[in-house]
Amino acid sequence: MSATGETPAGPRRAIVVGGASGIGAAVAHRLATDGYAVVVADRDAEAARAVAAALPAVPGAGGAHEARGVEVTDEASVAALFEDPAAGDGGLWAVVNSAGTSTLGTVRDLPVAEFRSVLDVNLTGGFLVLQQAARHVVRGGAVVSLTSLNARQPGGGMGAYCAAKAGLAMLTEVAALELGPAGIRVNAVSPGLVVTPLTAPAMDIPGVRDDYVANTPLGRPGTPEEVAAAVSWLVSEESAWMTGEVMDLNGGAHTMRYPDLLGHVDRMLAGLEG
Ligand SMILES: NC(=O)c1ccc[n+]([C@@H]2O[C@H](COP(=O)([O-])OP(=O)(O)OC[C@H]3O[C@@H](n4cnc5c(N)ncnc54)[C@H](O)[C@@H]3O)[C@@H](O)[C@H]2O)c1
Repeated sequence: MSATGETPAGPRRAIVVGGASGIGAAVAHRLATDGYAVVVADRDAEAARAVAAALPAVPGAGGAHEARGVEVTDEASVAALFEDPAAGDGGLWAVVNSAGTSTLGTVRDLPVAEFRSVLDVNLTGGFLVLQQAARHVVRGGAVVSLTSLNARQPGGGMGAYCAAKAGLAMLTEVAALELGPAGIRVNAVSPGLVVTPLTAPAMDIPGVRDDYVANTPLGRPGTPEEVAAAVSWLVSEESAWMTGEVMDLNGGAHTMRYPDLLGHVDRMLAGLEG
C-alpha cells in the first residue's frame, strides 16, 4: 500500500543512485532479478544507460527499467530524479545510494577543497538522496546507503573519506529514527575491499592488495554481487524488523587493522616495493 493508502499496480520501483558502475551496477542487476523496475541513476548518464539496457526484464513488464543522469551534490538534480514517476507504477519501494568517491591525502596536507569535495559527494549527496527518499518512498519501503569499513576503521591518508562515511553512517541512524513511524526503513551496508573502478587504481600499488588480504580473516576481497545480495535482503520484507543498522560486510576485516596505504605509496615512490 502506498503512503496515500492506494494499492499501486505494476512492478515495485527501485532507484539505484551511482548505479552505472561497480557495486551500484551489481545492485541494479540484483534488484531487477528480484522483480523491481529499476531506475539506474548516475552522473555518467551514458554508462547508466548501458547498465539499464542490460538488466533482466521484469516478468510481465518488459522495458520497465530506465536510466537517468543525476549529480548527487546538486539538490535540484536529486529532486528531479525523484519527482518524475519514471519506471513502473507500483510505487517507490527501494532507494539505494551507491554514489561515492575517495581521495588520498593526510590531515596535514590535504587541500581543503579536496576535503570538501569528498564530503560533498559522499555525505551531502547521501543526505540529499535520503531526503528525497524520505519524501517519496512508500510505507513498507526501504533505503540503503553504501557507507564503508572506513566509517569505523581509520585509514592513514583517508581522512576525508573516513569522515564522510562515518557521517553517513550516523545519518543513517538518524533517518531511521525519524522515518520509522512512516514505515520506511533506513539501513547501510559498509563493505571492505571490493575491486571496482573506484578501488582498481589502488590495487596497482605494489603490496596494497596483499595487505588488504592479509588483514581480512576470510582472505579475499568481496565481490559487487556479494554486496548486492546484502542490499537485496535489506530492501526486502525479509528484513522487515531491521532499521538503523550499519551492516559490516568485509570478510572480517573490521577485526584487524586497515592497510597502510601511505606506507605502500611512499615505498613505491622510493622504489623499494614491487
Ligand atoms: N569498492 C569498495 O571497495 C568499496 C568499499 C567500501 C565502500 N564503497 C562504497 O560503495 C559505493 C560504490 O563504490 P564502487 O566501488 O562501486 O565505486 P564506482 O566508482 O565503481 O561506482 C560509483 C558510481 O558513483 C557515481 N558517482 C560518483 N560521484 C557521483 C556524483 N557526484 N553524482 C552521481 N553519481 C556519482 C560514479 O559515476 C560511479 O558510477 C561508494 O559509495 C563507495 O564509497 C566501496
